[in-house]
Amino acid sequence: KKVVLAYSGGLDTSIIVKWLQEVYGCEIVTFTADIGQGEEVEPARAKALAMGIKPEEIFIEDLREEFVRDYVFPMFRANTIYEGEYLLGTSIARPLIAKRLIEIANATGADAISHGATGKGNDQVRFELGAYALKPGVKVIAPWREWDMNSREALMQYAEKHNIPVDFKKAGKKSPYSMDANLLHISYEGGPLEDPWFEAEEDMWRWSVSPETAPDKPTYVEITFRNGDAVALDGVEMSPATILETLNKVGGANGIGRLDLVENRYVGMKSRGCYETPGGTILLPAHRAIESLTLDREVAHLKDSLMPKYAELVYNGYWWSPEREMMQKMIDASQAYVNGVVRMKLYKGAVTVAGRKSDDSLFDAAIATFDDDGGAYNQKDAEGFIKLNALRLRIAAVKGR
Ligand code: ARG
Ligand code: SIN
Repeated sequence: KKVVLAYSGGLDTSIIVKWLQEVYGCEIVTFTADIGQGEEVEPARAKALAMGIKPEEIFIEDLREEFVRDYVFPMFRANTIYEGEYLLGTSIARPLIAKRLIEIANATGADAISHGATGKGNDQVRFELGAYALKPGVKVIAPWREWDMNSREALMQYAEKHNIPVDFKKAGKKSPYSMDANLLHISYEGGPLEDPWFEAEEDMWRWSVSPETAPDKPTYVEITFRNGDAVALDGVEMSPATILETLNKVGGANGIGRLDLVENRYVGMKSRGCYETPGGTILLPAHRAIESLTLDREVAHLKDSLMPKYAELVYNGYWWSPEREMMQKMIDASQAYVNGVVRMKLYKGAVTVAGRKSDDSLFDAAIATFDDDGGAYNQKDAEGFIKLNALRLRIAAVKGR
């Protein structure tokens, strides 16, 4: 009877509004969030009003801080990367959208949610697993899996026929890519990228200069971490969203964070995507660097061994699952002493760690030195350590194995 739609204000989700009204005849609540996609969200209000949505059922929210604080940063505590390369920029935004869809459904007495993800991708899975986890009886309407419009032209015709306001139609001439952006990344899929051999054209990239044209001298940035989260840049405390936004700018200006990969979607197909994640590409090695000083070796190795599983949970849409929550508790507990400052060097697409320091450092120069350590470490102890570790190897060797 009433459905909450994740509404971007763009052509596709505007068509969905009309289609829901036409096919389901139901009342629609629209939800539009600013998660740092870099487009104004306020225009969505007038568009929704024009399509007959009640003013009190138009939700427009700034979720940038919540997104970075409660989703991006917790994920970065685990140094999360999917299939060795993808920083999960789209994946990590979906659980927040799912949560707000359900909260708004509860607040407005809606019994259904709807979204503009296709039936071929990951996003449908992420939205819907989240929705079912948070409201088990919710009804889901996924127009892309129901309607028979499967080309751009069919969509344009539908828009024409239903007088979807003209300025939406500019979207028809937009870039050939399926894009998704938020404070963590911007992604490009489809169009010419469907040939994995085809090199992305320079003018596709929107957030970064090419490494070739980046400045010829390096930029340094100091990142302060507290309990595993970045809290300051160059000594200035900033909110989570401001930190990511600032790193995106400085990273983009130095050609940092471009990625081109073929990934495995949860639904089973391989897909080629290009991503720009400038801030994340700086944060990840910076976080590893501060962990390298402050984490116990076995704690570090254990969380590393679990990271691919955690990444898979995020990618596949299981943010709101007991196993992700259990792993998060463990990861968060590991961050108690992950405090300090890392100095990062950014140069023509490359990110390197130039220095790190911490009051909670486990690094002991007196022990590690190649010079005289004044008896801090007894080299004779190593003899027995090695011999006992070699015992089973020697026994096996004696047996000719
Ligand atoms: N392949 C990436 C992922 O699954 C990006 C998806 C982009 N989504 C989009 N609606 N364009 O996380
Ligand atoms: C979509 O299919 O809607 C976008 C791509 C994805 O979800 O993987």
